[in-house]
Amino acid sequence: SDQSAFDTDVWTLTRFIIETGRQAKGATGELTQLINAILTAVKAISCAVRKAGLAHLQGLAGSVNVTGDDVKKLDVLSNVLMINMLQASYGSCCMVSEENKELIVTPKDKRGKYVVCFDPLDGSSNIDCLASIGTIFAIYKRVTDGEPTDKDALQAGNNIVCAGYTLYGSATLMAISTGAGLNFFTLDPAIGEFILTERNVKIKQKGKTYSLNEGYAKYFHPSINEYLKHKKYPEDGSSPYGARYVGSMVSDIHRTIAYGGIFMYPANEKSPKGKLRLLYECNPIAFLIEQAGGLASTGFQRVLDIQPEELHQRVPFVVGSPDDVNEFLTFVKKHQ
Ligand code: AHG
Ligand code: MN
Ligand code: MN
Ligand code: MN
Repeated sequence: SDQSAFDTDVWTLTRFIIETGRQAKGATGELTQLINAILTAVKAISCAVRKAGLAHLQGLAGSVNVTGDDVKKLDVLSNVLMINMLQASYGSCCMVSEENKELIVTPKDKRGKYVVCFDPLDGSSNIDCLASIGTIFAIYKRVTDGEPTDKDALQAGNNIVCAGYTLYGSATLMAISTGAGLNFFTLDPAIGEFILTERNVKIKQKGKTYSLNEGYAKYFHPSINEYLKHKKYPEDGSSPYGARYVGSMVSDIHRTIAYGGIFMYPANEKSPKGKLRLLYECNPIAFLIEQAGGLASTGFQRVLDIQPEELHQRVPFVVGSPDDVNEFLTFVKKHQ
């Protein structure tokens, strides 16, 4: 029938979350409301990203954030959108954003039981050259009563209830998981819905690509450069790996999940804990990579096991196909 081109029983992310929510025992619908609020925010961010050049949204906002990054106009817009949509959902009691030094406590009359840690715009150094950028979030249940405190946000990634990233690339894609596998949803701008396009995504056991900023090679620990040498000049007759690095973690991670391989932001002499922030970059991505059957390590421990101490703390980050991450870890062990 001529309806064949038009899916009349479409699986939107909203429908998927309602289904998942109803299966969750004691579901109050609060998580569904919260995720729907995130969807609204990322759809608006996607729209802003795609008209940034036209709407004078490129360039600097003229400030530096708590992690020392130059803040871009789109960082600010994305941040305000996320905060406003989340607080309007009555699902969150507090949140942590890359762009806010302190915990963002929801006004008392709007509080819910969830905590959201998010990076409103990841890869913002790529905005003005039109390379892909993204949004990252992780959702936890609060652990205190009364006034929300940092303690509600300083939870190990093992406690994540739901996490996801949105990639504003050739299409706008949402990768999301509530702990029962990783699913991809692609935004259909015609109806403003994220449509299920890939279910229960799994990463390859081993890839053929490594991804990191080799510009820091002078400052890397020897184990990194020895691993890279092994990838470029394999002694076992295997083919050398390809290199890919966008500099937007969401882009580099999505390619690693889609094609396999390893992504690293290691510690280096200038950044002894690396650059990526645990609460709103490493934990959500580690959760998603593990849902896809991959590994996420600091080089010394599993990322999701870390007990955070500070809202903006950094950790070294090595993630991807299990065989590739495990091979890298053997180079770290050689130096212990
Ligand atoms: P953000 O734009 O949210 O501050 O994150 C940028 C991060 C991450 O997206 C990327 O992997 C990394 O910065 C790139 O850092 P380098 O430019 O040092 O390689
Ligand atoms: Mn930044
Ligand atoms: Mn980021
Ligand atoms: Mn950011």
